[in-house]
Amino acid sequence: MDLPFNGAISRYFEQDAPKAIRKAIEKGGKDEILSQGYPYREEMDKKEYEAQMAALQIQLVKLQSDVKKTGKRIVLVFEGRDAAGKGGTIGALTQNLNPRGAQVVALSKPSDREAGQWYFQRYIDWFPALGEMVIFDRSWYNRGVVEPVFGFCTENQKDAFFQQLPAFEEMIVQEGITFLKFWLDVSRAEQLRRMLARERDPLKQWKLSPIDVEGLGKWEPYCDAIAETLTRSHSDHAPWTVIRSDDKKRARIAAVQTLLHAVDYAGKDPRVIGVPDSLICGGPDLWSD
Ligand code: ADP
Ligand code: AMP
Ligand code: MLT
Repeated sequence: MDLPFNGAISRYFEQDAPKAIRKAIEKGGKDEILSQGYPYREEMDKKEYEAQMAALQIQLVKLQSDVKKTGKRIVLVFEGRDAAGKGGTIGALTQNLNPRGAQVVALSKPSDREAGQWYFQRYIDWFPALGEMVIFDRSWYNRGVVEPVFGFCTENQKDAFFQQLPAFEEMIVQEGITFLKFWLDVSRAEQLRRMLARERDPLKQWKLSPIDVEGLGKWEPYCDAIAETLTRSHSDHAPWTVIRSDDKKRARIAAVQTLLHAVDYAGKDPRVIGVPDSLICGGPDLWSD
């Protein structure tokens, strides 16, 4: 099988990655990476995770049933660097839901026609009707992060985006839509470790793109763009939930808990939901480079 990115990630790892990052991955893999600043030395126990997630899944099913019955609308935005775990977290969230009322939207780069529209327009197309939840796997926040970092937009376009953003998101909330924004925060070593694994796995090739490969060398510009974005778009009506995602299991649980807390639904059991772990889940001040 011809693997399109065979070698590009490894080459970056061997030739260009900062020494400390390379060492952490070479030395001990996952546990070594966690020991360098993550609040836990080890990943969450698998059995414990599965039991807690199973209980949360039942709550999610109740939530969806209630959303349908009472005609609520929900918009979730998942953002984060490449390999932060957006896809997996969304998968855990939707695993037991009816896809008809829990649609995942992962748009590709704007077409020529879309590029000539109001920037928010193609996203609004996908917004929920009564009883629906829509989950954006990447979103309009491309214009705050990926696009400026890669030069896909002009400085003027970025400024216009940030200027319009507060009013745009305030309208979503005023409309009565439950609106949550998640920023998944992955460390540099863990991001690279995941990409190396993807490169070797024929089943994960689709998760790699030229953007990911080139993006590895743009860690710092990403830091600047993320800091600016989190600062300029964190508001009372549309706050960010930042989740440290080096441990995918803890991250997934915190994301599901946050959603369950944000919505009132029949059968809601706060004891089952539990409290999101404040060591890995909070506001923008949790984000660090
Ligand atoms: P993903 O990580 O979502 O699988 P990529 O890493 O390839 O996808 O790209 C990251 C984001 O950048 C995507 O949302 C993609 O649509 C966007 N993107 C890629 N190329 C362009 C471009 N030329 N102009 C604007 N956005 C782009
Ligand atoms: P450069 O990569 O600096 O040559 O920039 C190429 C294009 O990307 C130009 O149109 C810049 O305006 C845009 N650009 C680069 N960095 C940023 C940024 N931080 N914010 C907005 N636009 C940017
Ligand atoms: C993720 O893990 O965040 C998603 O798979 C996105 C990606 O890495 O391209």
